[in-house]
Amino acid sequence: MQIVSYLIYLIASVLFIFGIKKLGSPKTARQGNMLSSLGMFLAVVVTLLDQRVLTFEYIIIGIVVGSAIGSVMALKVPMTGMPQMVGLLNGFGGGASALVAFAEFYHLSDVHSALDIPTSVTVVLSIIIGSVTFTGSLIAFGKLQEIVTGKVVKYPLQNPINVLLFLVSVAAGVFFVIDPAQIDMLFLIAGISLVLGVLLVLPIGGADMPVAISLLNSYSGIAASMTGFVLNNNMLIIAGALVGASGIILTIIMCKGMNRSLMNVVLGGWETAGGTGAAAGGDKAQKPVKSVDPEEAAMLFDSAQNVVIVPGYGMAVAQAQHAVRELANVLEKKGINVRFAIHPVAGRMPGHMNVLLAEAQVSYDKLYALEDINDDFNNVDVAFIVGANDVVNPAARHDKNSPIYGMPILNVDYSKTVVVNKRSLNVGYAGIDNELFYGDNTLMYFGDAKDAITKLVNEIKGL
Ligand code: TAP
Repeated sequence: MQIVSYLIYLIASVLFIFGIKKLGSPKTARQGNMLSSLGMFLAVVVTLLDQRVLTFEYIIIGIVVGSAIGSVMALKVPMTGMPQMVGLLNGFGGGASALVAFAEFYHLSDVHSALDIPTSVTVVLSIIIGSVTFTGSLIAFGKLQEIVTGKVVKYPLQNPINVLLFLVSVAAGVFFVIDPAQIDMLFLIAGISLVLGVLLVLPIGGADMPVAISLLNSYSGIAASMTGFVLNNNMLIIAGALVGASGIILTIIMCKGMNRSLMNVVLGGWETAGGTGAAAGGDKAQKPVKSVDPEEAAMLFDSAQNVVIVPGYGMAVAQAQHAVRELANVLEKKGINVRFAIHPVAGRMPGHMNVLLAEAQVSYDKLYALEDINDDFNNVDVAFIVGANDVVNPAARHDKNSPIYGMPILNVDYSKTVVVNKRSLNVGYAGIDNELFYGDNTLMYFGDAKDAITKLVNEIKGL
């Protein structure tokens, strides 16, 4: 029987690996999700059968209650609330790993008089990482939900205090490994780690939370992997390692997309991040901008041959993806070539634009990544920016004083005409003015994206 369960665990692990691989492309992502879910189903069933469970009562109650809460949450949470939902789920994962490590410690202490060193080390690591992940994720959730301040919180001796707390928990861990009878040490470690989770995430600005959540996701995987060692369960070790590795890779991709170091984000990065108001200290009031109404914009599109649509956070806020798809359809019917340029950090979470456009049934082959379209903007007649700001700010290419200097941007300003749709000249996430708005070939098309694009589509249809 044992060999059968090992074999099924192995199959489940392989399904996870292929599942993640298939998530790499939008075309195979659904299949990837199915494979991973099947892997998880197999893993749960085998664990329940293999662990000689005495009574299924509590397990069934847990499954029913958990599934009900999970289903209601998944149905109710809007797309814009997805980062905090993921954050909360990471936190529960971390908390569960810490609790399982505690439970297993009590269980093993009953069976054997003393724990061996590898087990006690992994118990300590599970509790540290799991507890930090739990409270850190709750703070991340609170910041995005605006329950906790979204500002960068800085206080005296912030980093020395964190380092000190970390060292105390490591020291307590060493004492516990030397003498596993010192249960108090485990509670001390858990207490310090819970506080550390709060202190580590509190300084991070609300708008940097997607990066923090991705990092916490990685932590939750590492905590699960450590718990796999405690339980001697290879499948949990592999699944946790996959989550840990993919979380850290995603975090690095996000940081690269913003041209920022992980340290810059984690230590409280940009004070201005997450800005939605007017540009800080900008002299934009003096600079003239040219604007167009729906009719003028429609004429521009009508005479174009090559159009590239650049969606950004504003499209998500306005839920304008369906209107954007409608615009693309109308233009294509007129024989105009329409493509979408997707910046890796457009919006507020990885793949944000891809998910919204997929929801609106925009075909994947029309979506171009930055590196695949950036050299082609010279041949574009109209670049239409829908609620994007930082990801098309030319200052990133040349202004060494700009906080986004060095961040790869979409070179929309190289197009013949740029039409920018947003509600005002207000700043985006980085809190800085955008010189694109004042360019000679730029026309501002003001208004809420959904409303403005619907008007534009009606005008184009009438031409
Ligand atoms: P942003 O620079 O944040 O700009 C979004 C713009 O949308 C705003 O300037 C706003 O201008 C406009 N807007 C808001 N509501 C709108 C509506 N209803 N209709 C039309 N426009 C609306 O967006 P972006 O260009 O997508 O850049 C993303 C930023 O987020 C980057 O700086 C990136 O580094 C950061 N970030 C991204 C991620 C990921 S993983 N995607 C994670 C963390 C941080 P108005 O107020 O004038 O309308």
